[in-house]
Amino acid sequence: MYRTHDCGELRLSDSNTKVTLCGWVQKSRDKGFMVWIDLRDRYGITQLIFDEQRSSKELFNKAKSIGREFVIQVKGKIIERSSKNLNIPTGEIEILVSELNILNESKTPPFTIEDDSDGGEELKMKYRYLDIRRNPIKEKLIFRHKVSSEIRNYLTKLDFIDVETPYLIKSTPEGARDFVVPSRMNSGEFYALPQSPQTFKQLLMVGGLDRYFQIVKCFRDEDLRADRQPEFTQIDCEMSFVNQEDILNTFEGLTKHLLKTIKGLDIDKFPRITYDEAISKYGSDKPDIRFGMEFGELNSVSQHKDFNVFNSAELVVGISVPGGNTFTRKEIDKYVDWVKRPQIGALGMIYVRCNEDGTFKSSVDKFYDQKDLGNWAKITNANKGDLIFILSGDKNKVRTQLSALRLELAENLNLRNPEEFAPLWVTDFPLLEWDEESKKFHAMHHPFTSPKLDQIDLLESKPEEVKANAYDLVLNGNEIGGGSIRIHDKNIQSLMLKHLGFSDEQAKEQFGFLMNAFEYGAPPHGGIALGLDRLVAILDGQESIKDYIAFPKNNSGKDVMINAPSKLGDDQLDELSLGLRIKSHE
Ligand code: AMO
Repeated sequence: MYRTHDCGELRLSDSNTKVTLCGWVQKSRDKGFMVWIDLRDRYGITQLIFDEQRSSKELFNKAKSIGREFVIQVKGKIIERSSKNLNIPTGEIEILVSELNILNESKTPPFTIEDDSDGGEELKMKYRYLDIRRNPIKEKLIFRHKVSSEIRNYLTKLDFIDVETPYLIKSTPEGARDFVVPSRMNSGEFYALPQSPQTFKQLLMVGGLDRYFQIVKCFRDEDLRADRQPEFTQIDCEMSFVNQEDILNTFEGLTKHLLKTIKGLDIDKFPRITYDEAISKYGSDKPDIRFGMEFGELNSVSQHKDFNVFNSAELVVGISVPGGNTFTRKEIDKYVDWVKRPQIGALGMIYVRCNEDGTFKSSVDKFYDQKDLGNWAKITNANKGDLIFILSGDKNKVRTQLSALRLELAENLNLRNPEEFAPLWVTDFPLLEWDEESKKFHAMHHPFTSPKLDQIDLLESKPEEVKANAYDLVLNGNEIGGGSIRIHDKNIQSLMLKHLGFSDEQAKEQFGFLMNAFEYGAPPHGGIALGLDRLVAILDGQESIKDYIAFPKNNSGKDVMINAPSKLGDDQLDELSLGLRIKSHE
């Protein structure tokens, strides 16, 4: 037997027991006549003691020779420590070692295996297996496991079955670029890695499985951000004979269960707002509602004077900053400069101070009187002591700019508490969105999403106004999941593809398999996919998903540890019929 116990479980009550432990040498302190070693494994740290008097000379010298991160096995007796460390659970005992086996030596690691390590990002990624030895990363992976096991149990209890779908598939239009895999046996042809198992889960419903889930890798060739990785994991689900309400209730139940079991929180019914409402109130389809600062639209109370900037604007919109009247002029100017940065792109910003005595002082006092400013305060819900910031211009641009400012202010005012959880559903997404580049309508969610059936007639005349039975789950300003009721009628699916600009042949070529399946009794169905990496990170109070993934890619989409992606040799390229193709591009 390699070990009788782990390094985190022994206590004073185990004194005098003989044990065998294995682990890594966290650190070693050599006082000349005494050597202490901290032995670490996944479960904790146990202190080992060797001394000149009680240990044999050979054992004592061996103890002096081992370095950091050596893998060792020790046998010995648990004794009470003379100077206790009450900060760790094993801090009252130590092991008086009688036998020491070096199981493997280690080079000195390139960074310290401590909670606060000295290693830079790139170095830690290169030696990720050493980084995983550190508590902060290890705990995040254990946390992820806890969340995913709760999810599996919850869905299994509700009769969902876990079905695996293929990774080598045909390109599906999910909005991002595909990663493709050349086929050796079918020269010149390619598989695509799934951006999601969307069409397969729909086919499983045609197959009669009724309730499906899969915790599944998805692949999207898109630019990386803190909440995006090229390969990530979805909790992918689909249900038959359900309407939108059934799906929202089921996955609200799952999210509540996670908040309860993982965070100990009871959250009542999740608020629901429509996409249109989210955009006009928060300028975003994934609003952070842990704090207020809702938008107040001011056109009707600001376009009656000689202030041309407002008069010529499509939208004049403001937010109230709680307690913002304490900002100095310099601080206000800093925010004005912040919105004028090219990343935000505002031309300027107006402010109104709401004084404690009920009067107002604004940067546009030349144009507006106290009554006007009072109306603005009312509409933006500003109280005495607050500050109102106002932007104006093109509707879409201004909303995006004010949304960014809202989050920046909330961050600076500490209103985004990571231990507070504010989930909500955003519903009634538009079915289509206009793409300037291709001058075509694209499916906002994906082409299999059902339009609201009573709006199908509008597809011809006002396609941009048609709403879909599509919904997102938002948590603390992050899109955690998205789904929809699907089209299960072949004719509606054809109509939809036509509106997306697919010719009959293209539709047949790309989606013939799905349309065929719809001819064999497809049940009404719908589903959702939650981003596991995001969900786990947010539940743990973080927004970056990287450390919740054991082996993530860096910001340029590379795995620097295994050096991927990398070039292939000529032989391999030839075998895949890619040699000539690549050479012809050189
Ligand atoms: P969608 O594209 O909205 O829906 O994806 C579902 C959820 O997956 C997460 N996600 C990501 N997480 C990390 N890195 C990425 N690159 C990334 N891309 C997406 C998000 C998102 O909400 N087939 C549909 C689902 C359905 O209709 O049932 C789909 O994939 O949290």
